[in-house]
Amino acid sequence: MEQYLIRGGNPLVGTVKIGGAKNSALGILAAAIMSDEKVTIRNLPDVNDIHIFLKAIKSIGAEVEYPDPNDCHVVTICGKNIFTHEIDNDYIRKIRASYYLIGALLGKYGEAGVALPGGCNIGARPIDQHQKGFRALGARVWIDRGMIFTKAEKLTGRHIYLDVVSVGATINIMLAASMAEGTTIIENAAREPHVVDVAQLLTKMGADIRGAGTDRIKINGVKKFHAADHEIIPDQIEAGTFMCAAAATMGDVTVTHVIPQHLEAVSAKLMDMGAQVDENGDSIRVAVTNRLQPTTIKTMPHPGFPTDMQAQFAVCLALAEGSSLVTEKIFENRFKYTDELIKMGANIRVEGNTAFITGVDKLTGATVSAPDLRAGAALVIAGLAAEGCTCVENIHFIQRGYEAFAQKLRSLGGDIRKVDVDSDSERDRMLSRLAMIS
Ligand code: EPZ
Repeated sequence: MEQYLIRGGNPLVGTVKIGGAKNSALGILAAAIMSDEKVTIRNLPDVNDIHIFLKAIKSIGAEVEYPDPNDCHVVTICGKNIFTHEIDNDYIRKIRASYYLIGALLGKYGEAGVALPGGCNIGARPIDQHQKGFRALGARVWIDRGMIFTKAEKLTGRHIYLDVVSVGATINIMLAASMAEGTTIIENAAREPHVVDVAQLLTKMGADIRGAGTDRIKINGVKKFHAADHEIIPDQIEAGTFMCAAAATMGDVTVTHVIPQHLEAVSAKLMDMGAQVDENGDSIRVAVTNRLQPTTIKTMPHPGFPTDMQAQFAVCLALAEGSSLVTEKIFENRFKYTDELIKMGANIRVEGNTAFITGVDKLTGATVSAPDLRAGAALVIAGLAAEGCTCVENIHFIQRGYEAFAQKLRSLGGDIRKVDVDSDSERDRMLSRLAMIS
């Protein structure tokens, strides 16, 4: 079992390059299979969710090639030889974004069957809005033995009003509608940067999409897509995670290769908390010299404060000077990490969808378990900021979405190593050896 062993206390200092956005990449890879010509994708993150997704599209006949075999960040996809429209295997069940294959296959072939999505356990995560969209376009949708199926004689553009703002439903409906006959309008659409990124690739492939990035997206369907070349946007959540790591450890970190506008909610909140945040072109520097101040956070769809940054900020607030409130408005089960932080000495009480956090002078090392991707990253930040040694278990969650996480943190001076241990006693031996080095 792989785990991170962390010796806390070093302020993170230096520069770190941010990779391509995982959640953008998943929609983009699905879009790419809709063309029978080669689509080149650049800045692809080297993370497990992407490896799984690539395996899934290969299994139905999509060609996946690396122009430079030594660089897995550039890939070409060709959907010409797709031989089945059904995907059901162990790996596709593990990831949430498998649902994008429903929209892509339905749009291109008029039918799809995909194992129901897995992904992080952060709440109920229904896909009723995706289904509503496909039905509005004229498809039948049904569930059978853990698979979702959809079929249409013909997809016809419609006016679709989403009852909740959903990134997944917006992208999925956009995929299917981009090859429907006529015009589709998605109202109450998600405005996340990844929606825009997927729309941009589709447009390069020949789609006619207007308004991505606003809450009203208009799509005129086209019959065929062609070759395209696209660079995925930087991962704003990876960037935000390193910005929080800088703040929690009272360090000085510059994240590079980012789009600062995508990080406005994160930067503004860090400034509220007393961090110095400086933008310079495609870089942002975060420096903290005095103890962080408390604040109030409420997660919202973009451009509000992102739910994917909630746990990392909670770690910063656990060390702030005073009491903070964090309210989770998107997912109902995203506070599981607070029990782990409490083991490290944090003072947090959760009531319903709100966490009441009273800052403590210091956190102390403990063995904790990552409950999901972002919360796992937050526990690593807590370990880096804590006094003593921390072991973070279940790091497979973190590896789903952070490329070379430990290496990047080490390059900033973090004392973190990945170990593979078979038993608790072996882990404890390693932890005490690490503690003795201090
Ligand atoms: C995407 O999930 C991301 N995942 C999540 O990232 C992210 O937290 C989330 O968007 C919000 O930004 C991927 O892109 C693969 P939603 P998604 O549909 O699309 C409700 C990470 O750590 N809803 O925008 O599944 C839903 O329950 C992850 O990288 C419905 O009610 O999220 C939630 O309350 C985790 N019916 C809200 O909408 C639906 O049909 C927003 O969910 C769909 C969603």
